[in-house]
Amino acid sequence: MVILRTPAEIEQMRRAGSLVGQVLERLREHVAPGVSTRELDAIAENMICSRGGVPSFKGYRGYPASICASVNNEIIHGIPGDRMLVDGDIISIDCGAMLGGYHGDAAMTFPVGPVSAEAEKLMTVTREALNAGIAMARLKMRLGDIGNAIQRHVEANGFSVVRDFVGHGIGRHMHEDPQIPNFGPAGMGMRLRTGMVLAIEPMVNAGGHEVVVMDDGWTACTRDGSLSAHFEHTVAITDDGPEVLTLP
Ligand code: CO
Repeated sequence: MVILRTPAEIEQMRRAGSLVGQVLERLREHVAPGVSTRELDAIAENMICSRGGVPSFKGYRGYPASICASVNNEIIHGIPGDRMLVDGDIISIDCGAMLGGYHGDAAMTFPVGPVSAEAEKLMTVTREALNAGIAMARLKMRLGDIGNAIQRHVEANGFSVVRDFVGHGIGRHMHEDPQIPNFGPAGMGMRLRTGMVLAIEPMVNAGGHEVVVMDDGWTACTRDGSLSAHFEHTVAITDDGPEVLTLP
């Protein structure tokens, strides 16, 4: 069941989203060679808690940290640990926070020092694909138009969209209906309505779309070892078009 949020609820979700956006901006400044993913997790957790928020991910189905930190061929759900970043890596950081009873959820992929031309293109195309999906998050469109716009942009650039994980509705819970695939035909699925709040999150592989999950039960990697990028925003559908709630 899809819940439509009132303007007062959207206002609270702006606060939660803004906190998540600020955490990612702070983490961007700390991403550098020699920094461990565990250090990035600590920075995020301290920032969320010091602002009165609760990390959405920690304890979710047993997940042990406040961010996901996924490096290079890792797509999503990388668990922070002792791994140190090195020049040329790309790192996808996903963060969620609950503030005042509502969640915000966002992700970005950052370069560590100079990276390959392929990695740069992958990050650019994935960010553009998210923006193409967000542009469809408005009245008169259907759910399938979001994924279709994402898939078309990604495949036009020679990359592939992950099928095994999807975006989601978000509100009082981090994961609500509907599911939002990053692929599929246009013009299908439910009509978009004012008050829907959606976490749109394309995961894009430089090679094939296939996924393998590591023995830790969380870390999802590309099956062919190719690089992967992930960008996500929490977006409200308003009478005036999409409003991105997870900007700093
Ligand atoms: Co999400």
